[in-house]
Amino acid sequence: MRYLPLEEIEEGMILARSVFAEDGRTLLARGVKLTKNYLEELKALHFTHLFVGEGPEDFEVNGISEQTYSQALRSVREVFLNAAKKQNLDYKEVLDVVDFMVDEVLNEDVLFNIFEMRSHDNYTYLHSVKVGIIASIMGKNLGLARKQIKELAVGALLHDIGKMCIENSILEKSGHLTYQEYEKMRLHPKYGFEILRGAPGLSLLSAHVAYQHHEREDGSGYPRGLNSEQIHLYAKIVMTADSYDAMTSGRSYRRTLWSHEALAQLAAEAPEKYDPKMIKLLAQSVALYPVGSVVLLNNLEVGLVTDVTRESVKVEFLTGTDKGKKIALKANDLLKIERRLS
Ligand SMILES: [Fe+2]
Repeated sequence: MRYLPLEEIEEGMILARSVFAEDGRTLLARGVKLTKNYLEELKALHFTHLFVGEGPEDFEVNGISEQTYSQALRSVREVFLNAAKKQNLDYKEVLDVVDFMVDEVLNEDVLFNIFEMRSHDNYTYLHSVKVGIIASIMGKNLGLARKQIKELAVGALLHDIGKMCIENSILEKSGHLTYQEYEKMRLHPKYGFEILRGAPGLSLLSAHVAYQHHEREDGSGYPRGLNSEQIHLYAKIVMTADSYDAMTSGRSYRRTLWSHEALAQLAAEAPEKYDPKMIKLLAQSVALYPVGSVVLLNNLEVGLVTDVTRESVKVEFLTGTDKGKKIALKANDLLKIERRLS
């Protein structure tokens, strides 16, 4: 399975991961043979990358199932859109999907590994779902109980719901915000807290995740300028996951960072902005070389990452006498990944 820019994808290649619309519907299911029409339509919808593969073994996904992923996308979108319309919010679907998500995270050796096929119109929902998944994995690796991981995951999925109270002209502005616009934007955590507090079925702690996700360890965050001791553990997890995902999913105004670059950047901002323990936890929870990346090995051969677990990275040789052979690299092996090529 490879993760390729649309321009490099040819007709006849097989889609290895489904493509979802912003409402969570499946636009193209994995396993489908890509035609010229499909590719043109995806381009028109602003998709930039796809996972493509060759055989059935290419379609195994380590991590959250596509069904849970698309259901999460759908339920988050619905709650957000209702919040924008100031309608009564029903969190049942979100709570249901968090049940599935946490089950999957707890039952499997999951690393966050998703490079989903993003189009520019669905950033907010995808971002929310990814932060939900990363935070759940971090909660598991921290040894939290199931109930706690659920509270954390709900807060993570809904952390930006307060943005629905901010005018679209500010949310969608491509250039820099004016001071006044920025001040308005900085209120979204507070709005989020007001929406979520007291909602039936939700823990107050989930609401506090929304309230505190832009606070920083040294008190330089917003909206209240809380310091390290005042910030709840769940919010520390979510602020780290939030920043990591923003860095690795490339909003248009900056270059997309690779996983290891984002981790290094976050580490450089610790302990002032982020709790170093949370960065360590994040590093244990995300795949350094996600499935589909092409890497240079220290024997100077090039390989394709085909699977990642906490114990090993499976690499298929793309060059050399072992071309085509797959090998599982463990932390102490002599053969190592030198760096990521694409
Ligand atoms: Fe936010």
